[in-house]
Amino acid sequence: MSAEDLVTDKPVPNTGKDEKKAEDSKPKGSTKSAATNTAAGSRQPEKPKNKGPAKVIAFANQKGGVAKTTTALNLAVAFKESGHRVLTVDMDPQGNLTMSQGVDPDKVEKSMFDVLVHRIPISEIIVEREIDVAVASIDLAGAEIAMSTQIGRERALQKSLEEVQDDYDFVCIDTPPSLGLLTVNALTAANKVIVPVQCEYLSMRGLVQLQNTLQMIRENLNPGVEIEGILPTMLDSRTVHAKEAVEILEENFGELVFKSRIRKAIKFAEAPVRGTSVLKYDPNGKAAGAYRDLAKEVLTHDS
Ligand SMILES: Nc1ncnc2c1ncn2[C@@H]1O[C@H](COP(=O)(O)OP(=O)(O)O)[C@@H](O)[C@H]1O
Ligand SMILES: [Mg+2]
Repeated sequence: MSAEDLVTDKPVPNTGKDEKKAEDSKPKGSTKSAATNTAAGSRQPEKPKNKGPAKVIAFANQKGGVAKTTTALNLAVAFKESGHRVLTVDMDPQGNLTMSQGVDPDKVEKSMFDVLVHRIPISEIIVEREIDVAVASIDLAGAEIAMSTQIGRERALQKSLEEVQDDYDFVCIDTPPSLGLLTVNALTAANKVIVPVQCEYLSMRGLVQLQNTLQMIRENLNPGVEIEGILPTMLDSRTVHAKEAVEILEENFGELVFKSRIRKAIKFAEAPVRGTSVLKYDPNGKAAGAYRDLAKEVLTHDS
């Protein structure tokens, strides 16, 4: 198989939309209790380390179905297991992150839409689940148009996070499959970007486009933002194709490619339907272990 076969821009449909009845969301009202929130996690977190301000990580790739949401959620839960205070922010109008913590995006009263468009405090829309979630709703789809005439529209998320930056060690932002204003807001608010890549449909052109967008963000909005790492996901290690895909990634992006690999596993599709992370759904499984390894790798970068 040639590199050309691997480097394709074929769209990847996001087939795993999880439709389920979810519990009603309960807004936190205040983030002050975040440090003591021990809800839902299968392992009790260690004592939080009061380091603040939070390190903000955006999970971005304009392709759908590459495991952005899965990675944002499970890495966030792995950070929490290792004793950190974690907020996740759902910037995708599809609300998959919100759903995968058992909250129905159709039932939330206030969401990131109100934070971005009406500038309400983000603490008003954070709900406590395994980790804290700033929830999305379907009306977030209209946020880009509603914000289009606002001054400072690219910085709305960055500004909203100022309120809670000392309440968390990590803020993990899930983004939609596009490079529009919602993703630009995420990249402007972020210190680091994690880029999940599905090795089966590796798109070098897509990654170059994402790098170009990041360069524009650096020049105009957020000079310090950097790629934390590129994460090979949904690996089927039995196929030569997947191995070649990772080799091509490493040839092109070198050290930027994480050592951690996320293999294909049915548990990843099952967990969100139950409204939980894989770390809670199958705490001792390999899938959970893979995201704990990734958390260690990111924490090592930091130290
Ligand atoms: N490692 C994996 N193995 C198998 N299925 C996965 C894996 N990671 C994610 N999935 C599933 O693939 C689908 C797309 O993942 P998702 O995280 O929603 O991607 P994105 O947010 O990039 O659109 C979901 O149904 C998810 O449960
Ligand atoms: Mg997603």
